[in-house]
Amino acid sequence: MSRASERCCTLDLMTPLKKLGILLSGRGSNFEAIAESVRTGRLPAEIAIVISNRADAPGLESARRRGLNTRLIPSKGRVREEHDVEVVATLKKAQVDLVCLAGYMRLLSAEFIRAFPNRILNIHPSLLPAFPGLNAQKQAIDYGAKVSGCTVHFVDEHLDNGPIILQKTVPVLEGDDEHSLAARILEQEHIAYSEGISQVLSGEVEIQDRRVVRKRVQSEVR
Ligand code: GRF
Repeated sequence: MSRASERCCTLDLMTPLKKLGILLSGRGSNFEAIAESVRTGRLPAEIAIVISNRADAPGLESARRRGLNTRLIPSKGRVREEHDVEVVATLKKAQVDLVCLAGYMRLLSAEFIRAFPNRILNIHPSLLPAFPGLNAQKQAIDYGAKVSGCTVHFVDEHLDNGPIILQKTVPVLEGDDEHSLAARILEQEHIAYSEGISQVLSGEVEIQDRRVVRKRVQSEVR
């Protein structure tokens, strides 16, 4: 057996799987896609905890049905910093390596971001920096964009602003409305998020200034 095939077929029983913490507020289709990638082994990670800030989030129910560790930490009427302290403590207790925002409709406090430096990811339904914020698909339609897509990025203290890990494009077709465009983008989101998480967990990428680049291995440095 060659060295390469040994490597490819040897089960790594020593390295513990990296732990994901998923934060959501609603439908949870991105969470579902991540959970499927984990279940099928495409994403070598485990979901340590799913946290929702809304009791009625379908994503929370779906996580419970999957038998995952879930927590409801309601945010309504609470000061952001106070709520975030509880969320961060819960993520830390679950020993989360990477936090994935999956339709989490809350801005994170600076303390939250500092608690997980370059360890918080988000997915946004546009090609950032175009159309940040709410209703990104409608913004793209109203602007007359011919191409849109989705962006997986690190989260920093500004809205939809952190270093971009990957993007996928989709055409904006004549006759599209925000709903048809959103559906086309969502299909790509479900592929992109797991890919982005994989890249970060693999340790193969690093942030230089605000660019996410593949780490150079020693043999390439010369
Ligand atoms: C997605 O479009 C995502 O890009 C945005 O919020 C939406 C969440 O959808 N951040 P879902 O709850 O994952 O279905």
